[in-house]
Amino acid sequence: MIVAIDGPAGSGKSTTARRVADAVGWLYLDTGAMYRTVALAFLDRGIAFTDEAADGLLSSLNLDLRMGLDGLQVMLDGQDVTDRIRTPEATEAASRVSTLPSVRHRLVEEQRRMARQQTADGLGVVMEGRDIGTVVFPDADVKVYMVANPEARAERRHRELTDQGKTVSLDAVAEDIAERDARDATRAVSPLRQAEDAVVLDTTGLDISDQVERVVELIRARLRERDAATPVKSDSAAPAAHSPSS
Ligand code: DC
Repeated sequence: MIVAIDGPAGSGKSTTARRVADAVGWLYLDTGAMYRTVALAFLDRGIAFTDEAADGLLSSLNLDLRMGLDGLQVMLDGQDVTDRIRTPEATEAASRVSTLPSVRHRLVEEQRRMARQQTADGLGVVMEGRDIGTVVFPDADVKVYMVANPEARAERRHRELTDQGKTVSLDAVAEDIAERDARDATRAVSPLRQAEDAVVLDTTGLDISDQVERVVELIRARLRERDAATPVKSDSAAPAAHSPSS
């Protein structure tokens, strides 16, 4: 089963997706981390943010995402870059490189490959990004589009940065989010938009446990529907209560 969680920066996607994946015991795939890692490679190699430059870079890139006990670990060419991909420079660069068609093409392929590996093994995956329900997996089993008002999103992001020991004004964070939103929503390839069949979850007044519970409930409902649609053989016992598996 594939769960797609999309939405703008600061809508609460990452924390929700990670906790939902934990709750159901499936893989969490943070696709933003992939764009951030490619962006870091552009910065480290001093390459211009163009499609031509990206082609050369992508063919030699060694990117590895691992889910460890401490959360997501990101390796780039053998180096642990988990913290470096969250710096303001990497955030800004990620917003730019994610507009490049060659980068999107390569990462979407990789995202599909990683997800299919899970589902082939009978597991599920909770994928978080901007285009999962529209482009990467338009036929995802559960689609959620998370939104929150701009003030709530800026405050969340500001809190995250402050918790990381960074000093930055709330206004600067709000401006940065607005700029990234505009770029995400207006880019030519795979712009941020809600899939028509996505469930919209407005997280403005919700706390994290409510957000997680709503998404887990959507997954449970989908699993029940799937069970109901599967013909039960006449000689089989009554189906057991379903715990989320695939
Ligand atoms: O979710 P995030 O802030 O970590 O994402 C970093 C950047 O990558 C952001 O500018 C949007 C972009 N992105 C994207 O274009 N498509 C995705 N599926 C995920 C992220």
